[in-house]
Amino acid sequence: MLIEKLCKEQNLTDDEFRTLLETDRYDDALREAADAVRREHYGTDVYLRGLIEFTNFCKNDCLYCGIRRSNKCASRYRLTEEDIMACCKEGYGLGYRTFVLQGGEDPYFTDERVCQIVREIRTRYPDCAITLSIGEKSRESYQAFFDAGANRYLLRHETADPTLYSRLHPAELSLENRIRCLYDLKDIGYQVGAGMMVGCPGQTTDHLIRDLRFLQELKPDMIGIGPFIPHKDTPFKDEQRGDLYLVLRLLGILRLMFPWVLLPATTALGTIHPQGRELGLKMGANVIMPNLSPVSVRKKYMLYDDKICTGEESAQCVDCLERRVTSVGYQIVSGRGDVKR
Ligand code: 5AD
Ligand code: FES
Repeated sequence: MLIEKLCKEQNLTDDEFRTLLETDRYDDALREAADAVRREHYGTDVYLRGLIEFTNFCKNDCLYCGIRRSNKCASRYRLTEEDIMACCKEGYGLGYRTFVLQGGEDPYFTDERVCQIVREIRTRYPDCAITLSIGEKSRESYQAFFDAGANRYLLRHETADPTLYSRLHPAELSLENRIRCLYDLKDIGYQVGAGMMVGCPGQTTDHLIRDLRFLQELKPDMIGIGPFIPHKDTPFKDEQRGDLYLVLRLLGILRLMFPWVLLPATTALGTIHPQGRELGLKMGANVIMPNLSPVSVRKKYMLYDDKICTGEESAQCVDCLERRVTSVGYQIVSGRGDVKR
């Protein structure tokens, strides 16, 4: 009943969402329904996003994150513009048509430097989408990046509950500003990705329902969710990881709430279970974001412990992913993979 209603109305009451999130009774039905909806909108296509982690310097101090500024054990690096271009070149050859530039909030990368890099990629690869994931900036900065040729922006809201938000972040960060950023990005014309960390310390079902309500308002093009995973050099080192099945259930629910949305099977999901990403694909996910960063820096971009794919060459990941994706009945397609809404 609940699943049928969610399919038909793309919505449930808070109590119904709670029931769905808190039991495993509906998991099979949810998977079948989510898979049917993803096939209706995206067939069996899986889109790739080449992730270039270009700096792990960060001025922020989020309590969960391995590259927070207080982590003195992190060995810091920055890629040069040439390094970044080499990643794009390799990625383009491997079939990638979306490049995601992700980094900590690194003051070295001024607006001018970011714009310069974006312009360079835009000139060399006019057929590719450029995604930025570099945190909270002013509206003017976002506009400048957009004018330089960026098309998409990933900024997870992490949690839509202000109290929980303040428990996960240092005092200088606020949910209010995060939300301001997301609406500015949308308004400027970016395809926007938001999302939350599932199972972070202090999170309850009610917090997750609040996340779903927030996403209903924002209507982002992409929703990135993954389990919280503790990092050994952060204040949350002794906390529990997020639960695999809760993440999967949320993926299924999100697919049914937002039939057209781009939904990645995240690296964090692949980290907590050897077939985590495949299970995600079967629950409605349709995007994978393999790492294009140089192998020499991959182990330094450790947001959480035991992150997978940090020892592999990009080409090895492509082969591995090809096998994983076909093993569950889907296929990787080349192309920008824009949202179909
Ligand atoms: N566990 C899981 N995800 C994390 N992220 C950061 N730290 C962790 C962690 N310890 C996620 C955040 C961020 C994205 C880039 O990585 O949601 O937005
Ligand atoms: Fe990277 Fe499998 S996807 S090793």
